[in-house]
Amino acid sequence: MVFKSLSLNLNDDRIKFSSNFRLEGKVAIITGGASGIGATAAQLFHENGAKVVIADLQDKLGESLAEKLGEGVSYVHCDISNENDVIDLVDTTVAKYGKLDVMYNNAGILDRNFGSVLDTPKSDLERILAVNTVGGFLGAKHAARVMVPQQKGCILFTASACTEIAGLGSPAYMVSKYGVLALVKSLAAELGQYGIRVNCVSPYGLATGMSTHGGVDPALIEASMSQLGNLRGQVLKTDGIANAALYLASDEASYVSGQNLVIDGGFSIVNPTIMKAYNIIK
Ligand SMILES: NC(=O)c1ccc[n+]([C@@H]2O[C@H](COP(=O)([O-])OP(=O)(O)OC[C@H]3O[C@@H](n4cnc5c(N)ncnc54)[C@H](O)[C@@H]3O)[C@@H](O)[C@H]2O)c1
Repeated sequence: MVFKSLSLNLNDDRIKFSSNFRLEGKVAIITGGASGIGATAAQLFHENGAKVVIADLQDKLGESLAEKLGEGVSYVHCDISNENDVIDLVDTTVAKYGKLDVMYNNAGILDRNFGSVLDTPKSDLERILAVNTVGGFLGAKHAARVMVPQQKGCILFTASACTEIAGLGSPAYMVSKYGVLALVKSLAAELGQYGIRVNCVSPYGLATGMSTHGGVDPALIEASMSQLGNLRGQVLKTDGIANAALYLASDEASYVSGQNLVIDGGFSIVNPTIMKAYNIIK
């Protein structure tokens, strides 16, 4: 109601950009939406007026989140590394809501936090590529299948700040996320002619189901990542990433494509040796 009364005084663009409904009328799929970054994005996209389909393997979590968020949010079981599941996810969404505006390929796994190439089993590399890279590829492929005839759409991924600097992940994880970045660039080039934008968000380390797996204290992850990080006075939480995804999904980013939006508080552009020398001179 407040929103409607504003429309009498402001031009349409200003209303759109200043409202709480930055995705009004849009239909979004969020993979890995049952937990962590994806769950926060599901809530934020929904609060901003989108119809949201949460896709995940964790059925209980996904179903209860969809139920909690209420009307306009549903859950579909989907293993993103299985093409039939992805086809079913996209087709179920289009059958239910009539279209697909945003495909947020967010689901991902870690092989382990850190590790050497020397003791990485081939099976770990294959497993992580199957989910992070092949899963993202399939999500983008089947989203494009329905977005090309629409002549518009937004394909988003969650990559990682390890695409900008080494040391933030194991070799297998880095390979998988560089693959995601390759998808962003090649698909932005291929699909631009159809009005489809393709981008990714690339988080620094934060406490989620993935990084706290095995009972690691989330506060410990946050404290150590903040200590290692560049930006002081802020702790990276899931809403820091979900808000960036919201921007890229919204019409505010209508001419943004092919970008890797790194959310790392400047970590990847700082050379710590120079900063140490600077502090000594000071
Ligand atoms: N947490 C971090 O520090 C961090 C840093 C950089 C990038 N990322 C990326 O963020 C994304 C989201 O992860 P998160 O940190 O929120 O962790 P999370 O574990 O909380 O969420 C990941 C979700 O993906 C789901 N998933 C895993 N494999 C799947 C599959 N085959 N099919 C469907 N769903 C599957 C999981 O069930 C889970 O709900 C991932 O792509 C991850 O690589 C995370």
